[in-house]
Amino acid sequence: MNALVTPTPTVGPPMWLLAEVTYRCPLHCVFCYNPVDFAKTEQELSTDDWLRVLREGRELGAVQCGFSGGEPLLRDDLEILIGEARKLGYYTNLITSGVGLTEARLDAFKAAGLDHIQLSFQDSSKEINDFLTHTRTFDLKQKVGDMLKARGWPMVMNVVIHRLNIEHIGRIIEMADELGAEYLELANAQYYSWALLNRDQLMPTREQLKRAEEVTNEWKAKLADRMRILFVVPDYHEGKPKKCMNGWGNVFLTVTPDGTALPCHTARMLPGLSFPNVREHSLRHVWFESEGFNHYRGTGWMKEPCQSCDDKKKDYGGCRCQAYLLAGDPDAADPVCPKSPHHSEVVAALENAENPARQAQPLIFRDPKESRRLTADT
Ligand code: FES
Repeated sequence: MNALVTPTPTVGPPMWLLAEVTYRCPLHCVFCYNPVDFAKTEQELSTDDWLRVLREGRELGAVQCGFSGGEPLLRDDLEILIGEARKLGYYTNLITSGVGLTEARLDAFKAAGLDHIQLSFQDSSKEINDFLTHTRTFDLKQKVGDMLKARGWPMVMNVVIHRLNIEHIGRIIEMADELGAEYLELANAQYYSWALLNRDQLMPTREQLKRAEEVTNEWKAKLADRMRILFVVPDYHEGKPKKCMNGWGNVFLTVTPDGTALPCHTARMLPGLSFPNVREHSLRHVWFESEGFNHYRGTGWMKEPCQSCDDKKKDYGGCRCQAYLLAGDPDAADPVCPKSPHHSEVVAALENAENPARQAQPLIFRDPKESRRLTADT
């Protein structure tokens, strides 16, 4: 082959179809990744729309289908969608807070063939769990954990970790073990959307993070025979850009409640890009032909320092949304990278975390009224 010719990157099918079936949610989490302007969302897709999306996704080659939100349980047709996804041959996954789950609903999900449920918790203490979500849901979640186990689903838990719960990490792991969890994801908050609004109050100190990793490693060794624990380090502290979404338009195809198709949860905010709606376009068009999905595929779009970086095919320049949020330019290197001209933004956020005076501001809870207030001019 002529060494000067760059082969055109071939686009494979999406592996994951993520159905964000609603932005409605009974919780008010301060680190929610739903867009800050979620309250402006137009009408949700109908059951028939979703059934068509599921069929088209499978025809494209997607093998996993996740149902998330908001709180997906607020859709009355969830068991219909799960049943159809299972019939089509997807491996199905429900990502839920558990609020609203009943014995009858779980039986319906079991009958529909649901493969996997991921239950989110906020903390090991009732006080912090209920404070962070602005609800009284802690006791209920414990009950839901028991109901899942009784139906033979593996107990898979997810806890978003941040400054307000990071020192409870040992107790969180212990609680997961008491609930019989087989898998626990301790995911440090990613600073987008509502978490970015609350970043100064949520960012842990370096010492907190170091201690949390040590405690997690001790528990990993102790529970190695019965629980898998994944500790996801925040990219701000790691100083390394992540290969966000496993590459833009590479693995994930997200369909949002109003039918807008996105390569990641928050891409809609990126300026200068248009994303197709599944009401008007087939998933085949969305994935292979749309401008929004093609724009950041591969490495051709990069500018310096990414273009000449040896790691460009490892991290693909990091996260486009983070580049926009922190550098104001979605084409820029992700500012978590030390080579980024905007890396000082990340350093400043880490310094703020060491300064207790910065944590005095009130937290902003995710809420439709707050969403409208914060985005009134947009
Ligand atoms: Fe959008 Fe990373 S979250 S590209």
